[in-house]
Amino acid sequence: MYNSKIMGVGSYLPPNKVTNHDLEKIIDTNDEWIRQRSGIEERYWAPKEMGTVDLAENASLEAIEKSGLDKSEIDFIICASISNDADIPGTGCFLQARLGLGEVPTLDIRQQCSGFVYATFMANQFIESGMYKNILVVGVELQSRGINKTTEGRDIAVLFGDGAGAMVLSRDDSGDSKVIASDLHSDGRFAKELWISAPGSCAGREDRLNKEIMENGEHFPYMNGKVVFVHAIKKMSQTVINVLEKAKMPKEDIGCYLFHQANLRINQKVQETLGLSNDQVFNTIQKYGNTTAATIPIGLADALKEGKIKRGDHIIFAAFGSGFSWGSILLKY
Ligand SMILES: CC(C)(COP(=O)(O)OP(=O)(O)OC[C@H]1O[C@@H](n2cnc3c(N)ncnc32)[C@H](O)[C@@H]1OP(=O)(O)O)[C@@H](O)C(=O)NCCC(=O)NCCS
Repeated sequence: MYNSKIMGVGSYLPPNKVTNHDLEKIIDTNDEWIRQRSGIEERYWAPKEMGTVDLAENASLEAIEKSGLDKSEIDFIICASISNDADIPGTGCFLQARLGLGEVPTLDIRQQCSGFVYATFMANQFIESGMYKNILVVGVELQSRGINKTTEGRDIAVLFGDGAGAMVLSRDDSGDSKVIASDLHSDGRFAKELWISAPGSCAGREDRLNKEIMENGEHFPYMNGKVVFVHAIKKMSQTVINVLEKAKMPKEDIGCYLFHQANLRINQKVQETLGLSNDQVFNTIQKYGNTTAATIPIGLADALKEGKIKRGDHIIFAAFGSGFSWGSILLKY
């Protein structure tokens, strides 16, 4: 069995910064409500000229450059997104063509806010088995184009941002770096507590998308905020406990906990539940909002740039999102 090493990490935020005060101009909301309820101060919304693949490409090029590898050495792409440029195919294919990676296989996964945790888990399995050597793992979202940016959609519109993060995960024979333990879960009984039902082929519909569906706003995300909030705290805390137990490591040995960023209050509760110090957690929601599958790799890129993570450190990725699906990965960087 081989081990995985993070060779390079990159991130990209599109040019348009949108502050809470900017949102006040288009939605009946206010800076104080958004800060108090979510911790968010600003987020980035991509300009019309950019698509999901543009964000993914920029983050990927940085990750590949930092890895020191030639892009021709990438032998697999896993791309996590729920806000792709097209309904089909997924962003992985567009990204592969953009990067000029010939016929390298791509796999798109849509596991919502847990997407990057699932993608990392899968990439590690392919590396451990010897199937692939250098995998480009991407989390990318352009959510701003799919949310209801009016007062009707304000509970969701103020929370989401656009961005991309990418990581090159490679086979490492030295054993210095590795994924030590992982813990994945889902519970589909809660699927409709946070979902976008259209385009979709559910029973009772004539079309996946039509005027009536759009008039009903079924193509916009629906979220039962309170139910999501409570489950996110409980499940994200439990998955961290599970992964620490699997690795037989005390919580103090983890240098950096990279939690999904959906709401600062969720993460503060998780931190309190787990008894973690401020030094051990790295929150980015204030600057970026919730960037769904891109959140963890963007946080990883920032944490590395700020020197919060160094070679040899133990780190945990943990996320919770629509599905419900959640999980964590404990690795030695
Ligand atoms: C969405 C969320 C921030 C709302 O916070 P909350 O404290 O539960 O707020 P409530 O839903 O009780 O709403 C309180 C009031 O604020 C209003 N409100 C909602 N969005 C608002 C906004 N953007 N600006 C101003 N007021 C808003 C509501 O209409 C409600 O008004 P009412 O009391 O007159 O009915 C919170 O529930 C949350 O973060 N949930 C989890 C989100 C999440 O994790 N999502 C992604 C998972 S990956």
